[in-house]
Amino acid sequence: MSSQHTIIVTGGAGFIGSHLVRELVNNYPDYKIVNLDALTYAGNLENLKDIDQSDNYVFEKADIRDAAQVDHLFKKHQPDGVIHLAAESHVDRSIENPSAFVETNVMGTVHLLNAFRSLWQGQWEGKRFYHISTDEVYGTLGETGLFTETTPYDPNSPYSASKAASDHLVRAYGETYDMPYVITNCSNNYGPNQFPEKLIPLFINNIIEKKPLPVYGDGNYTRDWLFVIDHAKAIDLVYHKGVNGETYNIGGFNEWKNIDLVKVLCQQMDQALGRSAGESAALITFVKDRPGHDKRYAIDASKIKNELGWEPSVTFEQGLEKTIAWYLQNEKWLRNITSGAYQSYYESMYSNR
Ligand code: NAD
Ligand code: DAU
Repeated sequence: MSSQHTIIVTGGAGFIGSHLVRELVNNYPDYKIVNLDALTYAGNLENLKDIDQSDNYVFEKADIRDAAQVDHLFKKHQPDGVIHLAAESHVDRSIENPSAFVETNVMGTVHLLNAFRSLWQGQWEGKRFYHISTDEVYGTLGETGLFTETTPYDPNSPYSASKAASDHLVRAYGETYDMPYVITNCSNNYGPNQFPEKLIPLFINNIIEKKPLPVYGDGNYTRDWLFVIDHAKAIDLVYHKGVNGETYNIGGFNEWKNIDLVKVLCQQMDQALGRSAGESAALITFVKDRPGHDKRYAIDASKIKNELGWEPSVTFEQGLEKTIAWYLQNEKWLRNITSGAYQSYYESMYSNR
């Protein structure tokens, strides 16, 4: 039995996961934080190079689709808690290849639940399985209204359907095996280290390279944007203070139509790059819509605000400014990602392990 508090974070080399791992490693020197990640195209150990020598941090390269490997690592580290972020996370990729999303997001989650259950069944005191989910499970909103924790599930993409299935499984393990769990459903994140397939980093990259900015459909789709570090802080809070069996919605109180957001991004990029006003906006190109494109997401985050005292710490303008500055200061990171060179980085670092 472990004497120190151990948390396995899955997907800790990804965008949100790496910010969370940093938060936990820095805030809890007495914990052991185990980062379990397969290092898919979206996972990048460079995201963690500032903390990877910390005494309370361990990296395990492992695939949650492999039940035996997951089981072995749970027995080895005896985690008190699991914070589960590992997933295939990009909607467009799910439209191309739904099976990969079922394998990782559904079966991978089942393997983690099984491993946690077989480790602690009957001794749940002080244990917690925390599942990180998305607002996309609720489907789409019309012009008005907000997603609350009781909004019925109505997913529309293979990605959101796979996340909805994993949420249901976590709740089912809670009901059936008394496994203590919490779930959070968060809106769109943005910030440093996001893979340049998602709207904001893709457009930053294209603006730098003076390539077209492909806006899907008419651009009148709405998302609710949250700075990633505020999400990481919310996860830390819910892990420690959330109530077992509860769900909390997390959002930015910050709705934007895509086209309006892209215009603000273009303005800020022109300023940051010293280009003339309107140069980036001239790259905007309307392209074929995403199939099954959800019209509008917006979160009612009043439960986590009222019950746990969380709210975003930065405004969208501040967050976007920090994000742009980070990408411009870390162009090497962006080039490594886009050239695939970060895979060689990993191989040279871990070939002897
Ligand atoms: P990401 O794609 O940046 O990172 C995913 C991480 O999971 C990567 O490090 C990858 O290597 C790892 N991974 C993927 N498949 C794996 C497997 N089979 N085994 C082990 N590791 C694997 O994702 P993200 O944007 O950081 O999202 C993290 C979580 O948060 C996901 O569960 C996602 O559904 C959820 N979420 C994301 C957002 C968002 O806006 N990005 C919003 C709400 C919820
Ligand atoms: O809402 C939470 C979800 O947000 C997370 O669960 C997902 O993991 C995350 O990828 C994100 O999903 P979206 O589909 O909302 O994010 P994306 O950045 O892909 O797209 C944001 C909006 O921008 C969406 O309306 C589609 C549009 N878009 C996206 C891309 C990549 C474009 O118009 N052009 C593009 O090239």
